[in-house]
Amino acid sequence: MHRLSFALLAAAALLSVSQAQNETDVESTIQFLFPSYCCTVLTNSSVSQQVTYPGQSAYNASLASYFDGKSRLTPNCIVQPQSSEEVSHVVKLLTAASLPEPCQFAVRSGGHTPIPGANNVDDGVTIDLLYMNGTTYNADTKVASISPAARWGSVYQTLEPLGRMVAGGRGSTVGVGGFLLGGGISHYAPRVGLSCDNVVNFQVVLADGRIANANKETNSDLFTALKGGNSNFGIVTRYDMETFESEDLWGGIVTYPASTADQHFKALVNFGLDPNRDPNAALIVFQGYSTVSPTDVVRAAFDYTKPVVRPDAYKEFFAVTNNISDTTKIQPMSAVAAEFGSDTTKRVQFRTVSFKIDLDTLQETARLYKIMLTELQAKASGQWRVSCLHQVWATSYTANSTARGGNVLGMERYTENFIMYQSYLSWSEAKDDDLFINLGLALTDGIQKFAASKGTDVEYLYLNYADKDQDPLSAYGADKVKFMKDVAKKYDPSGVYQTLLPGGFKISKV
Ligand SMILES: Cc1cc2nc3c(=O)[nH]c(=O)nc-3n(C[C@H](O)[C@H](O)[C@H](O)COP(=O)(O)OP(=O)(O)OC[C@H]3O[C@@H](n4cnc5c(N)ncnc54)[C@H](O)[C@@H]3O)c2cc1C
Ligand SMILES: *[C@@H]1O[C@H](CO)[C@@H](O)[C@H](O)[C@H]1NC(C)=O
Ligand SMILES: *[C@@H]1O[C@H](CO)[C@@H](O)[C@H](O)[C@H]1NC(C)=O
Ligand SMILES: *[C@@H]1O[C@H](CO)[C@@H](O)[C@H](O)[C@H]1NC(C)=O
Ligand SMILES: *[C@@H]1O[C@H](CO)[C@@H](O)[C@H](O)[C@H]1NC(C)=O
Ligand SMILES: *[C@@H]1O[C@H](CO)[C@@H](O)[C@H](O)[C@H]1NC(C)=O
Ligand SMILES: *[C@@H]1O[C@H](CO)[C@@H](O)[C@H](O)[C@H]1NC(C)=O
Repeated sequence: MHRLSFALLAAAALLSVSQAQNETDVESTIQFLFPSYCCTVLTNSSVSQQVTYPGQSAYNASLASYFDGKSRLTPNCIVQPQSSEEVSHVVKLLTAASLPEPCQFAVRSGGHTPIPGANNVDDGVTIDLLYMNGTTYNADTKVASISPAARWGSVYQTLEPLGRMVAGGRGSTVGVGGFLLGGGISHYAPRVGLSCDNVVNFQVVLADGRIANANKETNSDLFTALKGGNSNFGIVTRYDMETFESEDLWGGIVTYPASTADQHFKALVNFGLDPNRDPNAALIVFQGYSTVSPTDVVRAAFDYTKPVVRPDAYKEFFAVTNNISDTTKIQPMSAVAAEFGSDTTKRVQFRTVSFKIDLDTLQETARLYKIMLTELQAKASGQWRVSCLHQVWATSYTANSTARGGNVLGMERYTENFIMYQSYLSWSEAKDDDLFINLGLALTDGIQKFAASKGTDVEYLYLNYADKDQDPLSAYGADKVKFMKDVAKKYDPSGVYQTLLPGGFKISKV
């Protein structure tokens, strides 16, 4: 019977083509005639104004705003709901029992995950939360309520004038939505823990379209599972985060010749293993090369969360004196984030691996990095860039998590800080996809093999830096996998977020 109503709807649309007043009308009406019925049900509903089709400017703008060029898949239509009620309505429409077949869909917030299909879909509907991008602050509770498609830069710009800050992303362009569901590392992490553990409440649209809250008291199992559990349980429509006093930071990026790598690694070992490490001192040590500035370099991003110039915490790094450039200064978080922000029109690969804080393993990463760089210099075309980041993952994150309801990252297993490594490759030419993707894979595989042979391997994989073939959910540990499976079954018994939302790391696949 519903097939008949689709046919009637199509006939009505055909009629309206003849009534179209101008080309835009004709274009959208034609798109209306031949979309999947999944788009038709949206267009035939109260969210019709929020649906955009191939060829339309809102559709083009949405695709253009994906961070990774490979991720610009072409959905049948994109729906851009403006409230949690509209998200709920969309979920109900796309999962309705009356449909000929259920609809495949994708969810995106900032669109920064560089995995094609994680935040977009070729044959289906993409729910783009674009318009849900505001931040409000409640002075009584000191809680900031942040909508999923806010970018961290806009969050900081809203909170700083109020004298408040949250532990969010380091780059201004990164989205709130995906970042907080994968863990989230901020410059404030050594002091206040992972960003997800600073969330006090998630508002989430469940598989049946219900709008629920998840916090320490209500739906507390869902609350825990959302902290690291990616898109397995629902669509989060609001993140309520703890705030703290906003102060200027001392921070910036210092660039050194590649020959200083060993000095940096030695300093990183001492910094990372120091039991009395200053909780204000965040640090990233990374190797980098770019066709724009074709010199092999080592960089240190120093970010101290108090307005203290050249704090002692970094003393050993300051002993390396031959820097090439230095942007460090006292500045607000929004300015630090602007320096880290980046929009790209390029193709991107992230991969990750973790290992113990060990000089030999660090040196091996540099040896393998050099092999990759030499290959790329010989074979890659166009514009490209590589960065390989070393960050200290601290056991203090566990203490800062447990008391606030815990997360699913399995950090309780670790009694010693470790290095979380990220390779970040970007390139302009689609024909070089295999070259970069395979070399990136060889790099992290090589590090993993070396660490395993030396006994310095660490199972944990950071979800927000993981590549499609990596399995960060299993790497949280078997107990966390079981917990997430139970939570998914409880809140989504028919498996909507497993089968109809195929993007992301799925708990049903591990
Ligand atoms: C330039 C750059 C800088 C970065 N800096 C940092 C950093 O400092 N620290 C750090 O920890 N990470 C960082 N990252 C990684 C970042 O955390 C991830 O890319 C993250 O997924 C970005 O979130 P998003 O909302 O932009 O992503 P999206 O691509 O929109 O979403 C990511 C995943 O989450 C799902 N998802 C998104 N929103 C929702 C929602 N509301 N409900 C349910 N599921 C949802 C999507 O379906 C997708 O699978 C950085 C990435 C880039 C590209
Ligand atoms: C269109 O909407 C009307 C009213 O909500 C509904 O009765 C009808 O079944 C819908 N048609 C389709 C094809 O979804
Ligand atoms: C075409 O029609 C649309 C929708 O009716 C309208 O928004 C738009 O302004 C029109 N464009 C022109 C050029 O008349
Ligand atoms: C959208 O992009 C397509 C393909 O690049 C192009 O043909 C079309 O004109 C664009 N539409 C608008 C409204 O800019
Ligand atoms: C939210 O999105 C709208 C529409 O794209 C944009 O005009 C506005 O500047 C955005 N606001 C923030 C805080 O990013
Ligand atoms: C970088 O070099 C400049 C010039 O020698 C120096 O003033 C600055 O302190 C150095 N930066 C760091 C972080 O050591
Ligand atoms: C985080 O944990 C440390 C101990 O590791 C503690 O000193 C600090 O107060 C905690 N901070 C928060 C915000 O829980």
